[in-house]
Amino acid sequence: MNKILDMMERELKQAFTASGYEDSFAKVVLSNRPDLCEYQCNGAMAAAKAYKKKPIDIANQVVEHLASGGSHPVFSEAEAVMPGFINLKLSDAFLAEYAGAMASADKLGLEAPEKPETVIVDYGGANVAKPLHVGHLRAAIIGESIKRMGRFLGHHMIGDVHLGDWGLQMGLIIEELKDRKPELVYFDESFEGPFPQEAPFTISELEEIYPAASAKSKVDEVFKERAHQATLKLQRGYAPFRAIWQHIMAVSVSDLKKNYANLNVEFDLWKGESDAEPYIGDMIQMLVDKGLAYESQGALVVDVAQDTDTKEIPPCLIRKSDGASLYATSDLATIVEREQDFKPDRYIYVVDKRQGMHFEQVFRVAKRAGIVKEDTPMIFLGFGTMNGKDGKPFKTREGGVMRLEKLIEEINEAVYQRIMENRTVSEDEARSTAAVVGLAALKYGDLSNQAAKDYVFDIERFTSFEGNTGPYILYTIVRIKSIIAKYRENGGQVSQDAVEKKILACTGSSEKALMLLLARYNEVLENSFAETAPHKICQYIYELANAFNSFYHDTKILAEEDEARKESYIGLISLTRRVLESCIGLLGIEAPERM
Ligand code: ARG
Repeated sequence: MNKILDMMERELKQAFTASGYEDSFAKVVLSNRPDLCEYQCNGAMAAAKAYKKKPIDIANQVVEHLASGGSHPVFSEAEAVMPGFINLKLSDAFLAEYAGAMASADKLGLEAPEKPETVIVDYGGANVAKPLHVGHLRAAIIGESIKRMGRFLGHHMIGDVHLGDWGLQMGLIIEELKDRKPELVYFDESFEGPFPQEAPFTISELEEIYPAASAKSKVDEVFKERAHQATLKLQRGYAPFRAIWQHIMAVSVSDLKKNYANLNVEFDLWKGESDAEPYIGDMIQMLVDKGLAYESQGALVVDVAQDTDTKEIPPCLIRKSDGASLYATSDLATIVEREQDFKPDRYIYVVDKRQGMHFEQVFRVAKRAGIVKEDTPMIFLGFGTMNGKDGKPFKTREGGVMRLEKLIEEINEAVYQRIMENRTVSEDEARSTAAVVGLAALKYGDLSNQAAKDYVFDIERFTSFEGNTGPYILYTIVRIKSIIAKYRENGGQVSQDAVEKKILACTGSSEKALMLLLARYNEVLENSFAETAPHKICQYIYELANAFNSFYHDTKILAEEDEARKESYIGLISLTRRVLESCIGLLGIEAPERM
Protein backbone atom coordinates (compact mmCIF):
# COMPACT_ATOMS: atom_id res chain seq x y z
CA MET A 1 0.00 0.00 0.00
CA ASN A 2 1.08 3.54 -0.64
CA LYS A 3 2.08 5.43 2.47
CA ILE A 4 -0.45 8.10 3.46
CA LEU A 5 2.36 10.66 3.37
CA ASP A 6 2.95 9.81 -0.29
CA MET A 7 -0.75 9.97 -1.04
CA MET A 8 -0.96 13.41 0.54
CA GLU A 9 2.10 14.56 -1.27
CA ARG A 10 0.63 13.50 -4.59
CA GLU A 11 -2.35 15.77 -3.96
CA LEU A 12 -0.12 18.65 -2.99
CA LYS A 13 2.09 18.19 -6.02
CA GLN A 14 -0.85 18.41 -8.30
CA ALA A 15 -2.01 21.59 -6.57
CA PHE A 16 1.44 23.20 -6.75
CA THR A 17 1.66 22.38 -10.46
CA ALA A 18 -1.85 23.63 -11.12
CA SER A 19 -0.94 26.89 -9.39
CA GLY A 20 2.10 27.29 -11.62
CA TYR A 21 4.84 26.21 -9.21
CA GLU A 22 7.37 23.41 -9.19
CA ASP A 23 6.01 20.33 -7.46
CA SER A 24 9.24 19.82 -5.51
CA PHE A 25 7.81 22.21 -2.89
CA ALA A 26 4.96 19.82 -2.11
CA LYS A 27 6.54 18.00 0.81
CA VAL A 28 4.14 17.00 3.58
CA VAL A 29 5.21 16.47 7.19
CA LEU A 30 3.55 15.61 10.48
CA SER A 31 2.05 18.66 12.12
CA ASN A 32 4.02 20.35 14.86
CA ARG A 33 0.76 21.98 16.01
CA PRO A 34 -1.54 19.00 16.57
CA ASP A 35 -4.09 21.40 18.06
CA LEU A 36 -4.47 23.03 14.63
CA CYS A 37 -3.93 20.29 12.10
CA GLU A 38 -2.75 16.73 11.52
CA TYR A 39 -0.21 17.27 8.77
CA GLN A 40 1.26 20.33 7.16
CA CYS A 41 3.11 21.52 4.07
CA ASN A 42 5.70 24.25 4.51
CA GLY A 43 6.62 24.41 0.83
CA ALA A 44 5.09 27.81 0.15
CA MET A 45 7.80 29.43 2.26
CA ALA A 46 10.58 27.99 0.11
CA ALA A 47 8.62 28.61 -3.09
CA ALA A 48 8.22 32.26 -2.08
CA LYS A 49 11.96 32.75 -2.27
CA ALA A 50 12.23 31.05 -5.63
CA TYR A 51 9.32 32.93 -7.17
CA LYS A 52 9.75 36.21 -5.27
CA LYS A 53 6.22 36.25 -3.95
CA LYS A 54 4.58 36.32 -0.51
CA PRO A 55 4.40 32.85 1.02
CA ILE A 56 0.81 33.31 2.10
CA ASP A 57 -0.25 34.16 -1.45
CA ILE A 58 1.30 30.97 -2.73
CA ALA A 59 -0.21 28.96 0.10
CA ASN A 60 -3.64 30.40 -0.67
CA GLN A 61 -3.36 29.54 -4.33
CA VAL A 62 -2.27 26.00 -3.62
CA VAL A 63 -5.08 25.49 -1.15
CA GLU A 64 -7.57 26.74 -3.71
CA HIS A 65 -6.36 24.23 -6.21
CA LEU A 66 -6.51 21.51 -3.62
CA ALA A 67 -10.10 22.39 -2.90
CA SER A 68 -11.13 22.90 -6.49
CA GLY A 69 -10.39 19.28 -7.31
CA GLY A 70 -14.09 18.69 -6.59
CA SER A 71 -14.44 15.70 -4.28
CA HIS A 72 -10.95 15.35 -2.93
CA PRO A 73 -11.11 12.31 -0.76
CA VAL A 74 -7.74 12.61 0.98
CA PHE A 75 -8.27 15.86 2.89
CA SER A 76 -11.24 17.12 4.80
CA GLU A 77 -9.57 20.46 5.40
CA ALA A 78 -6.71 22.43 3.88
CA GLU A 79 -6.05 25.90 5.15
CA ALA A 80 -3.43 28.51 4.40
CA VAL A 81 -2.25 30.34 7.52
CA MET A 82 0.35 33.03 8.18
CA PRO A 83 3.10 33.28 7.25
CA GLY A 84 2.45 30.62 4.62
CA PHE A 85 1.82 27.26 6.19
CA ILE A 86 -0.69 24.89 4.67
CA ASN A 87 -2.52 23.10 7.47
CA LEU A 88 -4.01 19.76 6.57
CA LYS A 89 -6.59 17.40 7.99
CA LEU A 90 -7.31 13.98 6.59
CA SER A 91 -10.84 13.04 5.69
CA ASP A 92 -12.53 10.56 8.00
CA ALA A 93 -13.75 8.49 5.08
CA PHE A 94 -10.28 8.28 3.59
CA LEU A 95 -8.83 7.10 6.89
CA ALA A 96 -11.52 4.47 7.39
CA GLU A 97 -10.92 3.18 3.89
CA TYR A 98 -7.17 3.10 4.50
CA ALA A 99 -7.63 1.14 7.74
CA GLY A 100 -9.88 -1.34 5.95
CA ALA A 101 -7.30 -1.79 3.23
CA MET A 102 -4.57 -2.37 5.83
CA ALA A 103 -6.72 -5.07 7.37
CA SER A 104 -6.91 -7.11 4.19
CA ALA A 105 -3.40 -6.39 2.90
CA ASP A 106 -0.45 -8.69 3.35
CA LYS A 107 1.81 -7.42 6.20
CA LEU A 108 -0.76 -4.73 7.01
CA GLY A 109 0.05 -2.91 3.80
CA LEU A 110 3.80 -2.80 4.09
CA GLU A 111 5.37 -2.86 0.64
CA ALA A 112 8.35 -4.94 -0.37
CA PRO A 113 11.52 -2.87 -0.91
CA GLU A 114 12.25 -1.82 -4.48
CA LYS A 115 15.58 -3.52 -4.27
CA PRO A 116 15.89 -6.16 -1.55
CA GLU A 117 19.35 -6.11 -0.02
CA THR A 118 21.58 -8.75 1.46
CA VAL A 119 22.56 -7.38 4.86
CA ILE A 120 25.07 -8.73 7.36
CA VAL A 121 24.21 -7.86 10.93
CA ASP A 122 27.19 -8.44 13.20
CA TYR A 123 25.85 -8.49 16.74
CA GLY A 124 26.05 -10.44 19.96
CA GLY A 125 29.84 -10.59 20.02
CA ALA A 126 29.98 -12.92 23.01
CA ASN A 127 33.39 -14.10 24.07
CA VAL A 128 33.80 -17.83 24.31
CA ALA A 129 34.57 -19.20 27.77
CA LYS A 130 33.44 -16.04 29.46
CA PRO A 131 29.89 -15.83 30.78
CA LEU A 132 27.49 -13.40 29.11
CA HIS A 133 27.15 -10.23 31.09
CA VAL A 134 24.97 -7.16 30.74
CA GLY A 135 27.45 -5.63 28.32
CA HIS A 136 26.43 -8.25 25.78
CA LEU A 137 22.79 -7.63 26.41
CA ARG A 138 22.53 -4.47 24.40
CA ALA A 139 24.29 -5.94 21.36
CA ALA A 140 21.94 -8.92 21.41
CA ILE A 141 18.73 -6.97 21.93
CA ILE A 142 19.41 -4.17 19.47
CA GLY A 143 20.93 -6.40 16.80
CA GLU A 144 18.09 -8.88 16.97
CA SER A 145 15.59 -6.08 16.47
CA ILE A 146 17.45 -4.64 13.47
CA LYS A 147 17.63 -8.09 11.92
CA ARG A 148 13.92 -8.72 12.45
CA MET A 149 12.96 -5.33 11.07
CA GLY A 150 14.97 -5.80 7.89
CA ARG A 151 13.73 -9.33 7.39
CA PHE A 152 10.10 -8.29 7.84
CA LEU A 153 10.56 -5.51 5.32
CA GLY A 154 11.78 -8.08 2.81
CA HIS A 155 15.55 -7.87 2.96
CA HIS A 156 17.87 -10.86 3.15
CA MET A 157 19.21 -10.44 6.65
CA ILE A 158 22.10 -12.56 7.93
CA GLY A 159 22.71 -12.32 11.65
CA ASP A 160 26.19 -13.38 12.73
CA VAL A 161 27.12 -13.73 16.40
CA HIS A 162 30.82 -13.21 15.60
CA LEU A 163 32.21 -14.90 18.67
CA GLY A 164 35.37 -13.72 20.35
CA ASP A 165 37.01 -17.14 20.13
CA TRP A 166 40.57 -16.51 19.05
CA GLY A 167 42.17 -14.12 21.46
CA LEU A 168 44.38 -14.17 24.51
CA GLN A 169 41.61 -15.69 26.65
CA MET A 170 42.31 -19.00 24.91
CA GLY A 171 45.97 -18.95 25.88
CA LEU A 172 45.03 -17.98 29.41
CA ILE A 173 42.66 -20.91 29.73
CA ILE A 174 45.17 -23.35 28.25
CA GLU A 175 47.94 -22.31 30.65
CA GLU A 176 45.61 -22.23 33.66
CA LEU A 177 44.43 -25.71 32.73
CA LYS A 178 48.04 -26.83 32.52
CA ASP A 179 48.70 -25.54 36.05
CA ARG A 180 45.65 -27.29 37.40
CA LYS A 181 45.83 -30.55 35.50
CA PRO A 182 49.40 -31.04 34.21
CA GLU A 183 48.71 -34.76 33.77
CA LEU A 184 46.34 -34.16 30.83
CA VAL A 185 47.58 -35.60 27.51
CA TYR A 186 47.42 -32.19 25.87
CA PHE A 187 50.48 -31.16 27.86
CA ASP A 188 52.46 -34.32 27.12
CA GLU A 189 54.79 -33.40 24.25
CA SER A 190 55.29 -37.06 23.33
CA PHE A 191 51.57 -37.84 23.10
CA GLU A 192 50.62 -38.55 19.50
CA GLY A 193 46.85 -38.63 19.74
CA PRO A 194 44.10 -39.12 19.07
CA PHE A 195 42.88 -36.70 21.70
CA PRO A 196 39.93 -37.57 23.95
CA GLN A 197 36.39 -36.79 22.79
CA GLU A 198 35.35 -35.72 26.24
CA ALA A 199 36.12 -32.17 27.42
CA PRO A 200 38.44 -32.02 30.47
CA PHE A 201 36.08 -29.48 32.13
CA THR A 202 32.41 -28.58 32.51
CA ILE A 203 30.91 -25.19 31.70
CA SER A 204 30.93 -24.16 35.36
CA GLU A 205 34.59 -25.12 35.70
CA LEU A 206 35.37 -23.23 32.53
CA GLU A 207 33.58 -20.17 33.83
CA GLU A 208 35.72 -20.31 36.90
CA ILE A 209 39.00 -21.05 35.08
CA TYR A 210 38.93 -17.98 32.88
CA PRO A 211 38.47 -15.28 35.58
CA ALA A 212 41.11 -17.02 37.72
CA ALA A 213 43.58 -17.04 34.83
CA SER A 214 42.79 -13.49 33.91
CA ALA A 215 43.37 -12.32 37.49
CA LYS A 216 46.60 -14.26 37.66
CA SER A 217 47.91 -12.71 34.43
CA LYS A 218 47.49 -9.26 35.92
CA VAL A 219 49.91 -9.94 38.75
CA ASP A 220 52.10 -12.64 37.25
CA GLU A 221 54.15 -11.48 34.26
CA VAL A 222 55.58 -14.92 33.60
CA PHE A 223 52.15 -16.47 33.47
CA LYS A 224 50.98 -13.74 31.16
CA GLU A 225 53.85 -14.41 28.77
CA ARG A 226 53.10 -18.13 28.85
CA ALA A 227 49.49 -17.39 27.92
CA HIS A 228 50.64 -15.19 25.13
CA GLN A 229 52.92 -17.90 23.73
CA ALA A 230 50.15 -20.48 24.06
CA THR A 231 47.83 -18.20 22.08
CA LEU A 232 50.41 -17.89 19.33
CA LYS A 233 50.93 -21.64 19.29
CA LEU A 234 47.21 -22.19 19.02
CA GLN A 235 46.94 -19.69 16.20
CA ARG A 236 49.75 -21.47 14.35
CA GLY A 237 47.83 -24.70 14.57
CA TYR A 238 49.59 -26.69 17.33
CA ALA A 239 47.44 -29.84 17.47
CA PRO A 240 47.11 -30.39 21.25
CA PHE A 241 46.07 -26.78 21.79
CA ARG A 242 43.69 -27.00 18.86
CA ALA A 243 42.12 -29.98 20.59
CA ILE A 244 41.67 -28.03 23.84
CA TRP A 245 40.27 -25.16 21.84
CA GLN A 246 37.70 -27.50 20.28
CA HIS A 247 36.59 -28.53 23.76
CA ILE A 248 36.34 -24.95 24.93
CA MET A 249 34.25 -24.11 21.88
CA ALA A 250 31.91 -27.07 22.21
CA VAL A 251 31.24 -26.53 25.92
CA SER A 252 30.94 -22.78 25.68
CA VAL A 253 28.91 -22.50 22.50
CA SER A 254 26.20 -24.89 23.65
CA ASP A 255 25.87 -22.80 26.80
CA LEU A 256 25.78 -19.57 24.80
CA LYS A 257 23.09 -20.96 22.52
CA LYS A 258 20.94 -21.70 25.53
CA ASN A 259 21.46 -18.22 26.93
CA TYR A 260 20.65 -16.47 23.69
CA ALA A 261 17.60 -18.67 23.20
CA ASN A 262 16.35 -17.51 26.60
CA LEU A 263 16.59 -13.98 25.29
CA ASN A 264 14.68 -14.93 22.14
CA VAL A 265 17.74 -14.06 20.12
CA GLU A 266 18.64 -16.26 17.16
CA PHE A 267 21.66 -16.12 14.88
CA ASP A 268 21.89 -17.40 11.34
CA LEU A 269 25.63 -17.81 11.61
CA TRP A 270 27.66 -18.97 14.58
CA LYS A 271 30.94 -17.80 13.17
CA GLY A 272 33.76 -16.28 15.12
CA GLU A 273 37.13 -14.62 14.90
CA SER A 274 38.75 -18.02 14.40
CA ASP A 275 36.90 -18.51 11.11
CA ALA A 276 38.76 -15.55 9.68
CA GLU A 277 42.14 -17.17 10.31
CA PRO A 278 42.46 -18.93 6.92
CA TYR A 279 41.94 -15.62 5.10
CA ILE A 280 44.55 -13.64 6.98
CA GLY A 281 47.71 -14.68 5.09
CA ASP A 282 46.44 -13.84 1.59
CA MET A 283 44.80 -10.69 2.80
CA ILE A 284 47.99 -9.34 4.33
CA GLN A 285 49.87 -10.20 1.17
CA MET A 286 47.28 -8.29 -0.86
CA LEU A 287 47.57 -5.26 1.43
CA VAL A 288 51.34 -5.32 0.98
CA ASP A 289 51.12 -5.84 -2.80
CA LYS A 290 48.77 -2.89 -3.14
CA GLY A 291 51.27 -0.76 -1.30
CA LEU A 292 48.84 -0.08 1.52
CA ALA A 293 50.48 -2.00 4.35
CA TYR A 294 53.98 -1.04 5.41
CA GLU A 295 56.37 -1.83 8.23
CA SER A 296 56.55 0.47 11.17
CA GLN A 297 58.74 -0.46 14.14
CA GLY A 298 58.51 -4.10 13.14
CA ALA A 299 54.74 -4.05 12.94
CA LEU A 300 52.62 -3.94 9.81
CA VAL A 301 50.25 -0.97 9.54
CA VAL A 302 47.91 0.72 7.06
CA ASP A 303 47.40 4.48 7.06
CA VAL A 304 43.76 5.47 7.12
CA ALA A 305 43.79 9.19 7.92
CA GLN A 306 42.08 11.52 5.44
CA ASP A 307 42.40 15.26 4.85
CA THR A 308 38.80 15.74 5.87
CA ASP A 309 39.24 14.17 9.32
CA THR A 310 38.35 16.37 12.24
CA LYS A 311 39.96 14.07 14.75
CA GLU A 312 43.09 12.01 14.52
CA ILE A 313 42.63 8.51 13.14
CA PRO A 314 45.79 6.50 13.86
CA PRO A 315 47.08 3.88 11.39
CA CYS A 316 45.38 0.50 11.54
CA LEU A 317 47.59 -2.20 13.07
CA ILE A 318 47.52 -5.37 10.96
CA ARG A 319 50.29 -7.48 12.44
CA LYS A 320 52.37 -7.13 15.57
CA SER A 321 56.14 -7.43 15.48
CA ASP A 322 55.96 -10.96 16.92
CA GLY A 323 53.70 -12.01 14.05
CA ALA A 324 50.49 -12.08 16.06
CA SER A 325 47.37 -10.83 14.34
CA LEU A 326 45.08 -8.32 15.99
CA TYR A 327 41.45 -7.48 16.45
CA ALA A 328 41.48 -5.40 13.24
CA THR A 329 43.14 -8.24 11.31
CA SER A 330 40.41 -10.66 12.20
CA ASP A 331 37.65 -8.14 11.48
CA LEU A 332 39.14 -7.41 8.07
CA ALA A 333 39.63 -11.07 7.23
CA THR A 334 36.05 -11.70 8.33
CA ILE A 335 34.92 -9.13 5.78
CA VAL A 336 36.94 -10.95 3.11
CA GLU A 337 35.08 -14.13 4.02
CA ARG A 338 31.70 -12.40 4.04
CA GLU A 339 32.31 -10.87 0.63
CA GLN A 340 33.21 -14.27 -0.71
CA ASP A 341 30.21 -16.02 0.85
CA PHE A 342 27.43 -13.43 0.59
CA LYS A 343 28.43 -10.32 -1.38
CA PRO A 344 26.52 -8.15 1.12
CA ASP A 345 24.87 -4.91 -0.03
CA ARG A 346 25.18 -3.51 3.46
CA TYR A 347 26.95 -4.20 6.75
CA ILE A 348 25.57 -3.29 10.14
CA TYR A 349 27.75 -3.74 13.23
CA VAL A 350 26.00 -3.49 16.58
CA VAL A 351 28.84 -3.04 19.03
CA ASP A 352 29.69 -0.95 22.08
CA LYS A 353 30.27 2.61 20.90
CA ARG A 354 33.68 2.66 22.57
CA GLN A 355 34.85 0.48 19.69
CA GLY A 356 33.97 3.23 17.20
CA MET A 357 37.58 4.05 16.32
CA HIS A 358 38.42 0.41 15.65
CA PHE A 359 35.56 0.11 13.18
CA GLU A 360 36.36 3.40 11.51
CA GLN A 361 39.85 2.06 10.83
CA VAL A 362 38.61 -1.33 9.67
CA PHE A 363 35.99 0.15 7.33
CA ARG A 364 38.53 2.50 5.79
CA VAL A 365 41.04 -0.26 5.13
CA ALA A 366 38.29 -2.47 3.69
CA LYS A 367 37.30 0.25 1.22
CA ARG A 368 40.80 1.40 0.34
CA ALA A 369 41.92 -2.12 -0.34
CA GLY A 370 38.81 -2.78 -2.41
CA ILE A 371 37.73 -5.62 -0.13
CA VAL A 372 34.37 -3.84 -0.03
CA LYS A 373 32.96 -1.70 -2.84
CA GLU A 374 33.23 2.03 -2.23
CA ASP A 375 29.47 2.57 -2.20
CA THR A 376 28.54 -0.35 0.07
CA PRO A 377 27.21 1.11 3.32
CA MET A 378 29.13 -0.04 6.39
CA ILE A 379 27.16 1.09 9.39
CA PHE A 380 28.57 1.15 12.88
CA LEU A 381 25.64 1.20 15.27
CA GLY A 382 27.53 1.94 18.46
CA PHE A 383 25.52 1.62 21.64
CA GLY A 384 25.99 3.29 24.99
CA THR A 385 26.38 1.79 28.43
CA MET A 386 23.70 0.45 30.69
CA ASN A 387 24.26 2.27 33.95
CA GLY A 388 23.10 1.81 37.50
CA LYS A 389 21.19 4.53 39.34
CA ASP A 390 24.54 6.03 40.37
CA GLY A 391 25.22 6.78 36.70
CA LYS A 392 28.10 4.30 36.57
CA PRO A 393 28.17 1.05 34.57
CA PHE A 394 25.72 -1.38 36.07
CA LYS A 395 27.12 -3.64 38.78
CA THR A 396 25.81 -6.18 41.26
CA ARG A 397 25.10 -5.01 44.81
CA GLU A 398 28.50 -6.41 45.73
CA GLY A 399 30.12 -4.33 43.02
CA GLY A 400 30.92 -7.17 40.62
CA VAL A 401 29.96 -7.57 36.99
CA MET A 402 26.31 -8.53 36.78
CA ARG A 403 25.68 -11.75 34.92
CA LEU A 404 22.90 -11.74 32.42
CA GLU A 405 21.04 -14.66 33.96
CA LYS A 406 21.04 -12.90 37.30
CA LEU A 407 19.72 -9.70 35.80
CA ILE A 408 16.84 -11.51 34.13
CA GLU A 409 16.06 -13.30 37.38
CA GLU A 410 15.82 -9.97 39.17
CA ILE A 411 13.55 -8.36 36.66
CA ASN A 412 11.28 -11.42 36.49
CA GLU A 413 10.97 -11.35 40.26
CA ALA A 414 9.99 -7.67 40.19
CA VAL A 415 7.31 -8.35 37.59
CA TYR A 416 6.09 -11.37 39.53
CA GLN A 417 5.61 -9.20 42.61
CA ARG A 418 3.61 -6.71 40.63
CA ILE A 419 1.37 -9.37 39.15
CA MET A 420 0.77 -10.89 42.59
CA GLU A 421 -0.26 -7.47 43.94
CA ASN A 422 -3.46 -7.84 41.93
CA ARG A 423 -3.83 -11.51 42.90
CA THR A 424 -6.06 -12.34 39.97
CA VAL A 425 -4.06 -15.32 38.79
CA SER A 426 -2.51 -18.41 40.35
CA GLU A 427 1.11 -18.36 41.49
CA ASP A 428 2.11 -20.68 38.67
CA GLU A 429 0.52 -18.52 36.05
CA ALA A 430 2.05 -15.41 37.61
CA ARG A 431 5.49 -17.05 37.34
CA SER A 432 5.18 -17.95 33.70
CA THR A 433 3.62 -14.62 32.82
CA ALA A 434 6.41 -12.84 34.70
CA ALA A 435 9.00 -14.61 32.55
CA VAL A 436 7.40 -13.24 29.38
CA VAL A 437 6.69 -9.79 30.75
CA GLY A 438 10.06 -9.53 32.50
CA LEU A 439 11.96 -10.08 29.29
CA ALA A 440 9.74 -7.52 27.58
CA ALA A 441 10.41 -5.03 30.38
CA LEU A 442 14.14 -5.51 29.98
CA LYS A 443 14.17 -5.32 26.19
CA TYR A 444 11.78 -2.42 25.93
CA GLY A 445 13.66 -0.53 28.63
CA ASP A 446 16.73 -0.86 26.45
CA LEU A 447 15.26 -0.41 22.97
CA SER A 448 13.17 2.63 23.84
CA ASN A 449 16.38 4.63 24.19
CA GLN A 450 18.33 5.83 21.23
CA ALA A 451 21.02 3.16 20.93
CA ALA A 452 24.00 5.52 21.19
CA LYS A 453 22.80 6.91 24.53
CA ASP A 454 23.73 5.52 27.91
CA TYR A 455 20.70 4.68 29.99
CA VAL A 456 19.90 3.88 33.56
CA PHE A 457 18.69 0.41 34.39
CA ASP A 458 15.73 1.29 36.58
CA ILE A 459 13.92 -1.87 37.55
CA GLU A 460 11.05 0.04 39.18
CA ARG A 461 10.35 2.02 36.07
CA PHE A 462 10.98 -0.77 33.57
CA THR A 463 8.51 -3.09 35.26
CA SER A 464 5.81 -0.49 35.80
CA PHE A 465 2.48 -1.16 34.07
CA GLU A 466 2.19 2.55 33.35
CA GLY A 467 4.27 4.94 31.29
CA ASN A 468 6.58 4.21 28.39
CA THR A 469 7.37 0.63 29.38
CA GLY A 470 7.18 -2.87 27.94
CA PRO A 471 4.57 -4.01 30.46
CA TYR A 472 2.34 -1.05 29.56
CA ILE A 473 2.41 -2.01 25.87
CA LEU A 474 1.73 -5.66 26.69
CA TYR A 475 -1.03 -4.68 29.08
CA THR A 476 -2.68 -2.71 26.30
CA ILE A 477 -2.56 -5.71 23.96
CA VAL A 478 -3.97 -7.97 26.64
CA ARG A 479 -6.75 -5.49 27.32
CA ILE A 480 -7.74 -5.45 23.65
CA LYS A 481 -7.71 -9.24 23.55
CA SER A 482 -10.06 -9.39 26.50
CA ILE A 483 -12.51 -6.87 25.00
CA ILE A 484 -12.64 -8.91 21.81
CA ALA A 485 -13.10 -12.12 23.78
CA LYS A 486 -16.04 -10.57 25.64
CA TYR A 487 -17.51 -9.36 22.38
CA ARG A 488 -17.44 -12.95 21.11
CA GLU A 489 -18.91 -14.34 24.34
CA ASN A 490 -21.77 -11.91 23.98
CA GLY A 491 -22.57 -13.34 20.60
CA GLY A 492 -20.41 -11.15 18.38
CA GLN A 493 -20.43 -13.45 15.38
CA VAL A 494 -18.17 -11.85 12.88
CA SER A 495 -14.66 -13.14 12.41
CA GLN A 496 -11.82 -10.82 13.32
CA ASP A 497 -10.75 -10.51 9.74
CA ALA A 498 -14.17 -9.54 8.49
CA VAL A 499 -14.70 -7.10 11.33
CA GLU A 500 -11.54 -5.17 10.51
CA LYS A 501 -12.84 -4.58 7.02
CA LYS A 502 -15.97 -2.98 8.45
CA ILE A 503 -14.26 0.00 9.97
CA LEU A 504 -16.46 3.06 9.48
CA ALA A 505 -15.54 6.71 9.30
CA CYS A 506 -14.87 7.89 12.83
CA THR A 507 -17.21 9.97 14.92
CA GLY A 508 -14.96 11.08 17.75
CA SER A 509 -11.60 12.76 18.10
CA SER A 510 -9.85 10.04 20.08
CA GLU A 511 -11.10 7.54 17.51
CA LYS A 512 -9.59 9.63 14.76
CA ALA A 513 -6.32 10.03 16.62
CA LEU A 514 -6.11 6.24 16.81
CA MET A 515 -6.81 5.85 13.09
CA LEU A 516 -4.25 8.48 12.19
CA LEU A 517 -1.60 6.54 14.06
CA LEU A 518 -2.56 3.17 12.63
CA ALA A 519 -2.22 4.61 9.15
CA ARG A 520 1.41 5.51 9.84
CA TYR A 521 2.46 1.88 10.38
CA ASN A 522 4.26 1.33 7.06
CA GLU A 523 6.02 4.68 7.16
CA VAL A 524 7.26 4.17 10.73
CA LEU A 525 8.61 0.70 9.96
CA GLU A 526 10.45 1.78 6.84
CA ASN A 527 11.93 4.75 8.62
CA SER A 528 13.00 2.86 11.69
CA PHE A 529 14.92 0.38 9.59
CA ALA A 530 16.40 3.00 7.27
CA GLU A 531 17.71 4.81 10.33
CA THR A 532 18.59 1.59 12.19
CA ALA A 533 16.52 2.99 15.04
CA PRO A 534 14.34 0.53 16.96
CA HIS A 535 13.57 3.29 19.44
CA LYS A 536 11.36 4.85 16.77
CA ILE A 537 9.19 1.76 16.81
CA CYS A 538 8.96 2.05 20.59
CA GLN A 539 7.98 5.68 20.33
CA TYR A 540 5.29 4.76 17.82
CA ILE A 541 3.74 1.94 19.81
CA TYR A 542 3.78 4.02 22.96
CA GLU A 543 1.78 6.70 21.18
CA LEU A 544 -0.46 4.05 19.69
CA ALA A 545 -1.08 2.42 23.07
CA ASN A 546 -1.90 5.83 24.54
CA ALA A 547 -4.25 6.58 21.67
CA PHE A 548 -6.01 3.27 22.13
CA ASN A 549 -6.39 3.83 25.87
CA SER A 550 -7.88 7.30 25.34
CA PHE A 551 -10.29 5.89 22.80
CA TYR A 552 -11.21 3.08 25.18
CA HIS A 553 -11.77 5.60 27.95
CA ASP A 554 -14.04 7.73 25.74
CA THR A 555 -16.03 4.95 24.15
CA LYS A 556 -18.48 2.36 25.42
CA ILE A 557 -17.41 -0.24 22.93
CA LEU A 558 -19.37 -3.29 24.01
CA ALA A 559 -22.43 -1.32 25.11
CA GLU A 560 -22.77 0.37 21.72
CA GLU A 561 -26.31 -0.20 20.43
CA ASP A 562 -25.73 0.45 16.75
CA GLU A 563 -24.52 -2.95 15.56
CA ALA A 564 -22.54 -1.57 12.61
CA ARG A 565 -20.83 0.97 14.83
CA LYS A 566 -19.99 -1.68 17.37
CA GLU A 567 -18.47 -3.86 14.67
CA SER A 568 -16.46 -0.92 13.49
CA TYR A 569 -15.10 -0.33 16.99
CA ILE A 570 -14.17 -3.98 17.34
CA GLY A 571 -12.55 -3.88 13.93
CA LEU A 572 -10.55 -0.83 14.88
CA ILE A 573 -9.23 -2.26 18.12
CA SER A 574 -8.52 -5.58 16.48
CA LEU A 575 -6.39 -3.80 13.89
CA THR A 576 -4.71 -1.87 16.68
CA ARG A 577 -3.84 -5.14 18.35
CA ARG A 578 -2.36 -6.54 15.16
CA VAL A 579 -0.24 -3.45 14.58
CA LEU A 580 1.01 -3.54 18.18
CA GLU A 581 1.76 -7.25 17.97
CA SER A 582 3.61 -6.85 14.72
CA CYS A 583 5.74 -4.07 16.18
CA ILE A 584 6.62 -5.85 19.40
CA GLY A 585 7.54 -8.90 17.32
CA LEU A 586 10.11 -6.74 15.58
CA LEU A 587 11.48 -5.74 18.96
CA GLY A 588 11.80 -9.42 19.88
CA ILE A 589 9.01 -9.19 22.44
CA GLU A 590 5.96 -11.41 22.95
CA ALA A 591 2.67 -10.71 24.69
CA PRO A 592 1.17 -13.14 27.24
CA GLU A 593 -2.49 -14.22 27.03
CA ARG A 594 -3.34 -12.50 30.31
CA MET A 595 -1.51 -10.43 32.86
N1 ARG B 1 33.84 -9.87 21.11
C1 ARG B 1 33.88 -8.44 21.06
C2 ARG B 1 33.81 -7.87 22.47
O1 ARG B 1 33.33 -8.48 23.38
C3 ARG B 1 32.75 -7.87 20.26
C4 ARG B 1 32.73 -8.26 18.82
C5 ARG B 1 32.07 -7.25 17.96
N2 ARG B 1 32.07 -7.59 16.57
C6 ARG B 1 33.13 -7.49 15.76
N3 ARG B 1 33.01 -7.81 14.49
N4 ARG B 1 34.30 -7.07 16.19
O2 ARG B 1 34.26 -6.78 22.69
